[in-house]
Amino acid sequence: MPFSTDRRPLALIGFMGAGKTTLLQELSRHWDLTGIDLDHYIEQKQGLSIAKLVEKEGWEYFRNLEYISLQEILNFQNIDMLALGGGTLQHTPSRKLVMKNFRTLYLDVSLNTLEKRLKDSHASRPLLRTQSLEKLYQERYPFYQKCQFHKNIEGLTMAQLSENVYHDYFEY
Ligand code: S3P
Repeated sequence: MPFSTDRRPLALIGFMGAGKTTLLQELSRHWDLTGIDLDHYIEQKQGLSIAKLVEKEGWEYFRNLEYISLQEILNFQNIDMLALGGGTLQHTPSRKLVMKNFRTLYLDVSLNTLEKRLKDSHASRPLLRTQSLEKLYQERYPFYQKCQFHKNIEGLTMAQLSENVYHDYFEY
């Protein structure tokens, strides 16, 4: 990656199961970077799991909460990176906010791999109870394509991925 003067925090973007949260944890642990996971931020503030929150209030409420949380994070937290939820970019205000204020890294994983990884996660990922993975993937792909950086992470271990991401985006 060429030298860059762009020091905006890095948003980790990708489909459910791409490994955004794990990558964030790995980068924090090994490279001393600070980051927030948007889903965890919301769960902590609301005192509810995302699944329970959506069950109680619905998707529109949740998408709005994502937007409000993004604004809070931008205003009050000094962070190196942020892991988004898989659907955050589908909400236009959130997408605009992210594209303007973050460097955006799309973690590209094939549908086939995602299908295997997400097989048993319907309880924690409410969207998968009602929607097909393939349809969601097709809907979201255009938004993911708009990201500034793309990384095909198929076949990389988390340790390799975190090392690559650190060297490419945080060694200024
Ligand atoms: C969602 C993905 C989830 C979470 C919520 C909605 C989505 O985050 O934000 O269940 O719309 O794809 P992960 O991508 O971290 O699973």
